[in-house]
Amino acid sequence: MSSQNDAATSGSGLTKTLTITSGKGGVGKTTLVANVALQLGREGNRVLILDGDLGMANVDLMFDKRATKTIYDVLTGNASMDEVLMEVDKNVFLIPSGSGVKELTRLAEVERRNLLDQVSQIPAMFDYLIVDTAPGIDDNVLYLNSAAQEINVVVTPDPSSLADSYALIKVMNKYYRETKFSIICNMVKDEAEGLAIYQRLSDVGAQFLNVSLDYKGSIPADPYLRRATKSQQLVLKSNPDCIASRSIIEVTNNLSAFSDIESFKGNVQFFWKQYFGVA
Ligand SMILES: Nc1ncnc2c1ncn2[C@@H]1O[C@H](COP(=O)(O)OP(=O)(O)OP(=O)(O)O)[C@@H](O)[C@H]1O
Ligand SMILES: [Mg+2]
Repeated sequence: MSSQNDAATSGSGLTKTLTITSGKGGVGKTTLVANVALQLGREGNRVLILDGDLGMANVDLMFDKRATKTIYDVLTGNASMDEVLMEVDKNVFLIPSGSGVKELTRLAEVERRNLLDQVSQIPAMFDYLIVDTAPGIDDNVLYLNSAAQEINVVVTPDPSSLADSYALIKVMNKYYRETKFSIICNMVKDEAEGLAIYQRLSDVGAQFLNVSLDYKGSIPADPYLRRATKSQQLVLKSNPDCIASRSIIEVTNNLSAFSDIESFKGNVQFFWKQYFGVA
């Protein structure tokens, strides 16, 4: 593939692509995607979110919005990508998903190319592409993760979350040869608990898989956050000073401090090509 060419002609080789993913469900991925995107947008970055959770697409709801068109309409020829793109907050845009999009993994070559063409025509330049994935080791989750420059695995103190995170990392390493992952610990008692979880994963990862894990921070379990979700608000807006909000801002700072190592994985065009399987 001609990634060098693409970088030269796209005009935006600088979009950072990252996924927020997990082995186990309900660990806070969508909450993080929405709040991190909001914070990056507030800092003046242009952010594009791809709702990659095809079964349970709900990023729009986090912003108290309802998508009327989804990527599925693009796929079926009922809408163009810029009709589907929603501005959900200042500087923050969303490509919504919806049921039916499961078929993405079973697209014919010509349909994939059509989608890729549409995606390449997204008018605005983005500093970040943030992808919310479904939990687990579904093909779709693996594709999305393998296409991104940075894979952020969300882990909670729940022992099954730790085991499922390890399983996801193992599969990504085995089938996609990924050797670098970032870890975000959520719903912890305190930072010490987050660090301990990270250390455990990091130790087994290094010992059995030869992967290296980067610590991106911990977010305590916070009733303010839970309440915000219930009333379809983002905690950064409703309770900007609570512990969860302050921790999410710290995680955002760590996410935006990219290491150079990932950059070889190419630009945002590379992401879309990988994802739609048009190499
Ligand atoms: N730090 C936290 N403190 C308290 N509650 C939290 C925290 N993080 C997430 N939650 C709550 O956990 C629930 C699940 O969050 P969310 O939907 O973001 O998880 P998810 O990983 O996207 O789930 P799924 O795997 O189903 O997509 C929500 O009710 C949310 O408010
Ligand atoms: Mg989710």
